[in-house]
Amino acid sequence: MSQLLRYSIARFLHPTRSDFINMGLGIEARRKRCGKYWQSHLECSKLFQRESFLRQPALEEVTVLGAVELNDLDSEGVRARFSRINLCDANPLVNRKWIKFARSLSSRQAVTFCNEDLTYSLDSWSEALRGFFVEYPEENVEALACFLGSLRCSPKAARPWMDADVIVSLNLLGQIPLYWRDRVQQAALEYWDYDTDENGLYPLYLQEALHLSLSKLQSQHIELLASSGASCIVIISDVNYMYYTKVHSHWQTEPALLISKNLSLKNRHLADQSSWYWHIAPQDIEQPGYGIIHEVGAWRFENRGGN
Ligand SMILES: C[S@@+](CC[C@H](N)C(=O)[O-])C[C@H]1O[C@@H](n2cnc3c(N)ncnc32)[C@H](O)[C@@H]1O
Repeated sequence: MSQLLRYSIARFLHPTRSDFINMGLGIEARRKRCGKYWQSHLECSKLFQRESFLRQPALEEVTVLGAVELNDLDSEGVRARFSRINLCDANPLVNRKWIKFARSLSSRQAVTFCNEDLTYSLDSWSEALRGFFVEYPEENVEALACFLGSLRCSPKAARPWMDADVIVSLNLLGQIPLYWRDRVQQAALEYWDYDTDENGLYPLYLQEALHLSLSKLQSQHIELLASSGASCIVIISDVNYMYYTKVHSHWQTEPALLISKNLSLKNRHLADQSSWYWHIAPQDIEQPGYGIIHEVGAWRFENRGGN
């Protein structure tokens, strides 16, 4: 693989800060450009949810985490089966789609919008990160690795959305670490002028410490779901990011899940599982040098011993 291609892939994996700020915001524009390539992914995602909803007894309330544009949500199933619907994301501009969805509901249905960081740790971690760089104005990579290794997620806070009968974590788990990764990389660049290599990586010990902090955020999401009151939990998430070029029979694969791919939730059993591919960024439509396909996983967990 050419150096240029490796570099552009690294830039995609480790986007610039403005890409980061627009992470949730660029989805709709990309969906319009790549609509026909996304179709099967969106259908698989909706079908998995529909079958999950149909297998539940009459239920009242559903929470959708990572709802953003509602592209991959089984909106019809949600509308048909639930009287209380909670839509959650950390994206300040999602409201247009959500309001349209709310207007499509009957007067007997209620919808709640929840716009917040679902890790509940990013604010305190960012504050601590600022404090770290004030304490270490000069480059000290060992200290940064130590700092990252020492981070702990905020204790689980009870949220009203956790009382829902069904919770859908919709293409969120794989994305959760990206905000934090970008904050760390941005701070190291700004304070120390310290950047990743051409593959988007730090030296091994620092990369491992960063990786550990990222995986804690994903574990925390799983624990949060497990500690909810939901009798059915659906998780749909990227599992791997796969990079290809038209001219080489060679893939580069990066994990999207930094925790075990055999997801398990305490006190729940795995009732169904599926996987498929999402041709998210076809070569020459999104970028000329390479294309990207995501391997997507879907899991349905139910209470042990039935509902
Ligand atoms: C790939 S999108 C999900 C797809 C989406 N359902 C759609 O309609 O296309 C991932 C979403 O996760 C959200 N997200 C990532 N990290 C988050 C966090 N810590 N808290 C809340 N939302 C987060 C992003 O804002 C983004 O909207």
